[in-house]
Amino acid sequence: MKKKLYIETYGCQMNFSDSEIIASVMQHNDYELTKTMSEADVILVNTCAIRDNAEKRVLGRIQEFRKMKQNKPGTTIGVVGCMAERLKEDLLKTQKDVDLIAGPDSYRHLPEMLEGIREGQQMANVILSEEETYENIEPVRLDAKGISAFISIMRGCNNFCSYCVVPYTRGRERSRNPETILNEAKNLYDKGYREITLLGQNVNSYNFQEGEKYLDFPELLRQVAAVHKDLRIRFATSHPKDISDKLIQTIAETENIPNAIHLPVQSGSTNVLKRMNRKYTRDWYLNRIETIRKHIPDCGITTDIIAGFCGETEPDHQETLSLMKQVGYDFAFMFKYSERPGTLAEKRFDDDVPEDVKSRRLQEIIQLQQELSQQSNANDLNKTFTVLVEGPSKKDAKKMMGRNQQNKVIVFPASADIKGQYVQVKVTGYTSATLLGELIS
Ligand code: SAH
Ligand code: SF4
Ligand code: F3S
Repeated sequence: MKKKLYIETYGCQMNFSDSEIIASVMQHNDYELTKTMSEADVILVNTCAIRDNAEKRVLGRIQEFRKMKQNKPGTTIGVVGCMAERLKEDLLKTQKDVDLIAGPDSYRHLPEMLEGIREGQQMANVILSEEETYENIEPVRLDAKGISAFISIMRGCNNFCSYCVVPYTRGRERSRNPETILNEAKNLYDKGYREITLLGQNVNSYNFQEGEKYLDFPELLRQVAAVHKDLRIRFATSHPKDISDKLIQTIAETENIPNAIHLPVQSGSTNVLKRMNRKYTRDWYLNRIETIRKHIPDCGITTDIIAGFCGETEPDHQETLSLMKQVGYDFAFMFKYSERPGTLAEKRFDDDVPEDVKSRRLQEIIQLQQELSQQSNANDLNKTFTVLVEGPSKKDAKKMMGRNQQNKVIVFPASADIKGQYVQVKVTGYTSATLLGELIS
């Protein structure tokens, strides 16, 4: 009988994509997936280490798994991903019920590691690789809708933003062979998928070199978009330093690359950006936005912002607010700075913005973004968008939901048999998070 694997995922899209790789590796080794934790032989939790609260959440879950294991001795508990990589063997010392830890580059070895676990022993593999891209592994798609899928095209990060653990948890940047990316895209299209998100921590610094062959990100994007005109190709996340004119041109010229760019700014103050080691200034960032708007006037622009980084003054914070207004972001992920052990910021700077000031600044940023998102939705009223239908709306089964090019969710009355189709929807209303519309064709 096959052994049952239960897997829970936290963190970014890349972690979700990795869980699909893990599921594939395990299925090829006599495991089957279960959605019910209590019937699992192996429980894996794919973890994130980006902020302290991300790790706290996982530690809380491990307590739940421990209870599970007490009821069902013999259950194996594995912690994989970025938190396993960051804490290494320390995690095994403090969490006695964890049987296994595995870092992001060791997933091919999971079955043999699990096989090797003996009563009372723990197993670890946190070796980072300079080559692993899992290029020949066909992921098991865990999202049930069957319309939108991720393809991981590069791994790791070389940027060492001073606040960030990712370069330590995911190792050096490496780009995946384009042929395997194109094959995966074709397979997905044939299976009925109509949207692909190309993933990497710095997706736009993709560059593949092998002998004479060289491919940069805009060229890869063009080739993946050529797989089929009905396949939307998105990408995340872009670093501002690599958002080249060539990339902007490629998005502008290619019909099935949606007009939407996620461009994390982190701060509006050049001084703070310098301490963050982001490698651009406020003006440079704003110039990129101007170029995007010039070539792609209807481009959706979204961002990530950190409030209360080391040494951030009130005027620095005001610069973040003014930059947000100037760009007019459609959406943002907003965070309070969380000091991470081992990062450059932890070594070089004092985490000196008091907690209550961090909270107040974050609140102001959130409040402003709500107004900007509201404004952005109001501007869409009476416009008609091409929407890729993903399935029934969660709140109302008589309605369908899909996304427009700008990646905004639109809910509208329609029948279920249009899932996976492109339809024209006119916006007739909105809430703070969603556009409401009616089908016009
Ligand atoms: N590679 C992407 C995003 C990486 S992590 C980029 O370069 O933009 C996602 C977001 O988490 C970051 O954009 C940043 O806003 C936030 N983040 C990263 N480290 C953080 C920390 N120590 N404290 C708070 N937020 C952090
Ligand atoms: Fe972290 Fe910076 Fe790399 Fe993004 S670019 S993953 S924020 S180090
Ligand atoms: Fe978290 Fe690792 Fe992603 S730290 S944000 S899961 S790369």
